[in-house]
Amino acid sequence: MTDIPVLTIDGPSGSGKGTVAQLMAKKLGWHYLDSGAIYRVLAQAAIKHNVDLADEEKLSDMAESLDLVFSLNGESLIVLLEGEDVSLLIRSEQAGNAASKVAALPLVRAALLNRQHDFRQLPGLVTDGRDMGTVVFPDAKHKVYLTASARVRAERRYKQLKEKGIESNISALEAEISERDDRDSQRDVAPLRPAIDAVELDSTSMGIEAVFEHVSTLCADV
Ligand code: C5P
Repeated sequence: MTDIPVLTIDGPSGSGKGTVAQLMAKKLGWHYLDSGAIYRVLAQAAIKHNVDLADEEKLSDMAESLDLVFSLNGESLIVLLEGEDVSLLIRSEQAGNAASKVAALPLVRAALLNRQHDFRQLPGLVTDGRDMGTVVFPDAKHKVYLTASARVRAERRYKQLKEKGIESNISALEAEISERDDRDSQRDVAPLRPAIDAVELDSTSMGIEAVFEHVSTLCADV
């Protein structure tokens, strides 16, 4: 346990949690952890090294020694796997789906806990994911659970991917997002759900700016 403050923002894919978390980290001058990127990189490493996405033992060994570096280039998060820039590669919906397969394995989640705790550095940490408020940082003082309808999340994802130069199809994205939501919420370990002390926000008809304002108000005491 430490006194270093943490703001956790959990929620399903496309709820806007990553954008809001980055804006909050910037506003507060705190560190930022994109926990989903860790699962995405692990899945990418498995694909690269021909490891089956269900091989729990091998994957948890890989998770322990994963050669992963995060750095910020202006607003963009640069992700290096074994020295190779995989920032774009890990953002496709297929990469998200592969990530949710490895993320359902208990030994993999356990192997990644310390790596996530290491991000808790002064002056504070903003983190987004699925289990930030429930499992990884249960003592965080500020917890938000952000959601939105699957259709709206698919539309947002479509825009985000387009901005990154990745072409996609909204209906296919909606189906993939729903499949991933089901896997993430029905798994036995650290399922997607709000922490008991989280503030729940439905962003279906709210713009990102309004969500940011709301979360800023919640954190007015930090
Ligand atoms: O947040 P993002 O969409 O990048 O996460 C990719 C996948 O990683 C999620 O669908 C989920 O299965 C997994 N994940 C997780 N726990 C987290 C963050 C992500 O299980 N804290």
